[in-house]
Amino acid sequence: MNGKQMKKYRSRCKGLVLGTLVASCVILLYCLSTPQIHFSLPEVPVPYSCAHHPSQLRSKPTTNSSQQTTGQTCTPKVDIMFMKTHKTASSTFLNILFRFGEKHQLKFAFPNSRNDFSYPSLFERSHVKDYRPGMCFNIICNHMRFNAPEVAKLLPMDTSYITILRDPAELFESSFHYFGRLVPFTWKIPSDYKLTEFLRDPHFYFDPEGFNSFYLKNLLFFDFGQDNTLELNDPRVEEGIKFITDHFQLVMLVEYFEESLILLKDALCWEMDDLLFFKHNARKGSTVSKLTPELRARALEWNAIDWKLYQHFNQTFWKKVDAYGLQRLAEDVAELRRRNAEMASICIEGGGSVETGSIQEKVMKPWQPIGEKSIMGYNLKKNVDKVHRKLCRKMLMPELQYLTELGVNLWLTKLWGHVRDIINW
Ligand SMILES: *[C@@H]1O[C@H](CO)[C@@H](O)[C@H](O)[C@H]1NC(C)=O
Ligand SMILES: *[C@@H]1O[C@H](CO)[C@@H](O)[C@H](O)[C@H]1NC(C)=O
Repeated sequence: MNGKQMKKYRSRCKGLVLGTLVASCVILLYCLSTPQIHFSLPEVPVPYSCAHHPSQLRSKPTTNSSQQTTGQTCTPKVDIMFMKTHKTASSTFLNILFRFGEKHQLKFAFPNSRNDFSYPSLFERSHVKDYRPGMCFNIICNHMRFNAPEVAKLLPMDTSYITILRDPAELFESSFHYFGRLVPFTWKIPSDYKLTEFLRDPHFYFDPEGFNSFYLKNLLFFDFGQDNTLELNDPRVEEGIKFITDHFQLVMLVEYFEESLILLKDALCWEMDDLLFFKHNARKGSTVSKLTPELRARALEWNAIDWKLYQHFNQTFWKKVDAYGLQRLAEDVAELRRRNAEMASICIEGGGSVETGSIQEKVMKPWQPIGEKSIMGYNLKKNVDKVHRKLCRKMLMPELQYLTELGVNLWLTKLWGHVRDIINW
């Protein structure tokens, strides 16, 4: 090695060490940014409703809503708790909620300095940006670990609680792909097919005490504030499911996303216009692995609580569909799809999603999982007519950029992003 090469080698090493050091510091900062002080906040009751015209809210009977014909008037529900579960198309849904919130000038309860409420700590009101007891918020929708009493003290009495679930085998696969690198015990799994190897003998690899281990076992149940490591026959599993049933008025399913939105529209008295969406945070086809039937069975067995949870809410979902009317639902879904396709042709360059490298505007580039560039995004058409320009932009904007636009200061998340850009991770 000559002197010049040596020098180059040295400076590379230095860069690497420095990069690693900075990355570690940022990770540490991120973890420590969870408010550690648990001061007790005074309990000032929140108004019954935070709507601008609360008296009008009663114009629609809350019972028998499914029998309502479209001709009857009702007032849209604006007080909403959306429990954002992980890897469940919830970024797509957030885009819908953001636009709804802007349309009705609603007040969001946002987190501070990052895009979640100090997940995986349980939610506390003190995590909400600029929170003061007695304040009135309309919508809360960022990632949190659900904590019913604290949420109840933050939101009005008539808040609609909604959430979304996904087939646990698919969810597990997606979570493994997206978060696997954040779970240290996966680092020592030999083989290029870590997921397959893990599912071959999960009890051997899984460490319930391991850092971030919840991402890889019953993540849904965990997100709802429950214990994800219970045995399936533990009575607390049934209790947990009942707890979710009692708290959430609508549990949507990723596999029936459009159907879910129509049920939501019915439950909250929204309009079809409110439901328009483009898919966000979708993975490039080549990185979406198709689970073999055997792996799927193993994933379900490994995530048995989530599977039970999912089956339970699959049943309640189809009961709601029956009540709404299967034919009526099919017609509404067809209309929604037609409207979405129409919007895609108006807004999206090339009509569909592209890889992040092909996205021209920085503001349209989606956040990527660590060590990947697999999340697809969109290019806004250049010559969108004036009527649609604003809507197109908002519909296409990735979650973090939209949050920033809504006034959330994401300095920690962004700093982390810059460091990753620099070390190219
Ligand atoms: C709901 O509707 C059914 C028939 O459509 C009616 O018999 C029933 O009394 C209604 N229930 C309430 C609480 O209004
Ligand atoms: C969900 O419910 C439907 C209707 O009852 C049933 O056909 C389907 O097999 C269920 N899916 C799962 C995953 O349980």
